[in-house]
Amino acid sequence: MLKTILHINPDKTLSHIAPEIYGQFSEHLGRCIYDGIYVGEDSDIPNVKGMRKDVVEALRALHLPVLRWPGGCFADEYHWRDGIGPKENRRRMVNTNWGGIVEDNRFGTHEFLELCDQLDCEPYIAVNLGSGTVQEAAEWIEYMTADGDSTITNLRKENGRTKPWHLKYVGIGNENWGCGGSMSPDFYANEYKRYQCFCKNYGNNKLYKVACGPSGEDYNWTKELMSRIDHEHANGISLHYYTVPGDWEHKGSATDFSDEEYYITISKALHIEDIIEKHLAIMDEYDPNHDIDLLVDEWGTWYDVEPGTNPGFLYQQNTMRDAIVAAASLNIFNKHSDRIAMANIAQVVNVLQAMILTEDTKILKTPTYDVFQMYKEHQDATLVESYAEAVSGSASAARASGTDSADTANKIHGPVISYNDTSLPALSESVSVTEQNGQKLLTITLANTSLTDSLSVELELPMKYSFCGEASIAMLHAGARAYNTFDDPDRVRAFETEEDWNGNLQIVSLPACSVCRICCYVS
Ligand code: AHR
Repeated sequence: MLKTILHINPDKTLSHIAPEIYGQFSEHLGRCIYDGIYVGEDSDIPNVKGMRKDVVEALRALHLPVLRWPGGCFADEYHWRDGIGPKENRRRMVNTNWGGIVEDNRFGTHEFLELCDQLDCEPYIAVNLGSGTVQEAAEWIEYMTADGDSTITNLRKENGRTKPWHLKYVGIGNENWGCGGSMSPDFYANEYKRYQCFCKNYGNNKLYKVACGPSGEDYNWTKELMSRIDHEHANGISLHYYTVPGDWEHKGSATDFSDEEYYITISKALHIEDIIEKHLAIMDEYDPNHDIDLLVDEWGTWYDVEPGTNPGFLYQQNTMRDAIVAAASLNIFNKHSDRIAMANIAQVVNVLQAMILTEDTKILKTPTYDVFQMYKEHQDATLVESYAEAVSGSASAARASGTDSADTANKIHGPVISYNDTSLPALSESVSVTEQNGQKLLTITLANTSLTDSLSVELELPMKYSFCGEASIAMLHAGARAYNTFDDPDRVRAFETEEDWNGNLQIVSLPACSVCRICCYVS
């Protein structure tokens, strides 16, 4: 058994965890929108205004804060006017990025904003910079958010929506270094500044504008972009990072992987922390007051598609390995919540690391869904200092010898797993606090990345604090290759227990390959 101490200091509050870190992404890609979310009002599948009831209900349970749409790469070939008005008149276009299928635009602006209403979440619209025009972008914002008697707002009213919608988040372009126009950073920065200038605030609606940031380790893009924009132009820049176990040609199977591929996957997922820190350091050079946020608006695992499915649809299964990736990534985003204002896992239904998979009338919730369910208490909470300390011998013995001093300057990250050429920490963690009825409620989220060893974690508070009352513990664990199927939809499922906790330390035992969330009061 591996052992570690997790030091938690409820007095050391670090940053607000924006709920938007638990955001999602939906694109006109494969069966994400059609089948996955929108089936149309005439469908036999129970729906409200065309949206699947089962999917909306499952997503509402996650307290989904924000949903990005319509892409992705699709955003830079999407023309919003094609998706309004009577459905039978809507333009049919070829979805050139995703399988070359015909997109009939029956899900457009009104449908997306209706979906966000049903989900009670903020919409995040990606406007077309790659193949659109400034006028088109400007008029889309006007269509959605302006009141009054203009030609554009009257068009919206003719289409059945009298009041303007509230819209905060607007991304201008998507991956404009690649599918969004193969632009150089200086060209994009100039285009961005022009587009954002005409995305106006109407009435009380205040836009939060996001510029297309880098992919992965493209630090030059960040440098060139940040040297050309400031907070007058942008509230945030995006970062896209996908965890691909192999290379883009042979990414690897979602379900059939070796132990080595497992560790490579987790270690590549953890690498996002290094990437985030390097981009933030560059941003700091140009924006020392931190007026511009970082939004990880696409992240998650990307494998070879499920055998027999359309390669352009990016449909993949989701195992306990994905749950570990999700848990560790969300812990990293929490730990950087001073600068990360949003993160959107790709994608919400039927595409890449999805929350939900659908097959006709059936749905299943993936192991990643459970992680989002377990972590939702972090939304809007305050990150507190926590760090792991490796223990040789028993955890208690190490404490007794005085190694429990909360010296963050010397912090180490607990036990390390080495597998062939890959080394990674066994424990991923983050801790947040909220005040409830005059008491501090801690949410502690932990993942044991080891495939073979359980991990004993000694949770230690400063002496002045004690755990008190009932702790609610949710545990998700299964073999790394375990996944849910339509015939066995609850094979991998979190379960909850309650325990009376007292004193200033508690030991939790994490089985190999597991995710745990503890909610406990301390006073
Ligand atoms: O999420 C799938 C695709 O990945 C998106 O369309 C694109 O932005 C990224 O390359």
